[in-house]
Amino acid sequence: MGNLKIVVIGAGQVARTTHLPILSKMKDVEIAAVCDVNGAAAEAIAESFGIAHWYTDHRQMLQTEHPDAAWICVPNRFHHDTVMDTLKAGCHVLCEKPPAMNPCEAAEMEEEAKKQGTLLTYGFHFRHCAQVKLLRKMIGAGSLGNIYHTEVRWTRRRGIPGWGNFTNKKMQGGGPLIDIGAHMLDAALYLLDYPEIAYVTASSSDRIGKQGGTGRMGKWEGDSFTVEDGLFGRIQFRDGSDLQLSTAFALNQKEENLRNILLYGDQMGASLFPTELYGERDGHPFETNISIPQDHDWHEDCDRNFVKACRGEEPLLVTAAEGTYIQKLIHALYQSAESGGPVIW
Ligand SMILES: NC(=O)c1ccc[n+]([C@@H]2O[C@H](COP(=O)([O-])OP(=O)(O)OC[C@H]3O[C@@H](n4cnc5c(N)ncnc54)[C@H](O)[C@@H]3O)[C@@H](O)[C@H]2O)c1
Repeated sequence: MGNLKIVVIGAGQVARTTHLPILSKMKDVEIAAVCDVNGAAAEAIAESFGIAHWYTDHRQMLQTEHPDAAWICVPNRFHHDTVMDTLKAGCHVLCEKPPAMNPCEAAEMEEEAKKQGTLLTYGFHFRHCAQVKLLRKMIGAGSLGNIYHTEVRWTRRRGIPGWGNFTNKKMQGGGPLIDIGAHMLDAALYLLDYPEIAYVTASSSDRIGKQGGTGRMGKWEGDSFTVEDGLFGRIQFRDGSDLQLSTAFALNQKEENLRNILLYGDQMGASLFPTELYGERDGHPFETNISIPQDHDWHEDCDRNFVKACRGEEPLLVTAAEGTYIQKLIHALYQSAESGGPVIW
């Protein structure tokens, strides 16, 4: 197979700072065109990355360019329609996370990929980090024993983004849960190998968001703040184990940013960031720090996995079905927070 012919849809922050710098270095990839509804943005990004063609309509681009694969980097609200059009054009798709706005959309996208016989994956890049890969191997080998409790956290003290759509529910589908919590939740469920869920409970708050203010990520307006600023959930698994999730853009905690997964097994406990193991041996407590050099960009591994999967060289690490599952879980957590009651899986 010659070069993989690709296009990028959405010329905003993630395309400009993450995917295009990575893709433009790949020798076996030809970036044929880029598209953005904002023509000036499309033209500017095409010029800075030396891309020959730019468009403002992705359907026209797909018809003209006939790409093998597309990176979809548009706001969450437009994931579904853009992914569906691209799959229908017979093109493999890497869509940025979250998969969509709700589980129906994600399921339709998964179904369409199956129908077309094309690949569909999502930008859950934390799966690709060496720490996750190592812990997953150890868990699979039984080193932690039975894991009966997991704590998942991505909380910021004052980290409400002052740009983009992050505080707009109609565009994003939600706040920190669908944006940053989704990454940690996805990595945790991958580590645990998707135990069967019994029910989900959650509560959320928008008390700090609604006040408006200025934080480490800029100034935000309280009046237009329509998402949660924090969500705190619990997932009860059928095997009796559970997972506690805390995710917040703004929380009155000491640290500016807490991001971790803690796994508690009956043989050992483990932390993801930093990667550590905890236990007792011969009546003595021990803790082991596993230093893992940060020699890989996780986004790069994510993009590379998709390119190789398009070439039939390796399987996708993040499947469309797993994307639908995470979307369903996000929805259940939001439903529980709204209703105040448990959501049976
Ligand atoms: N994996 C990660 O860690 C990560 C990081 C950042 C963003 N993201 C995801 O990437 C997506 C984009 O985020 P961003 O920060 O780049 O947003 P952004 O607002 O900076 O850029 C989005 C771009 O899409 C364009 N656009 C909107 N509708 C379009 C359409 N129908 N066709 C073509 N272009 C269209 C907009 O004009 C804009 O230029 C979001 O889903 C976000 O969650 C993921």
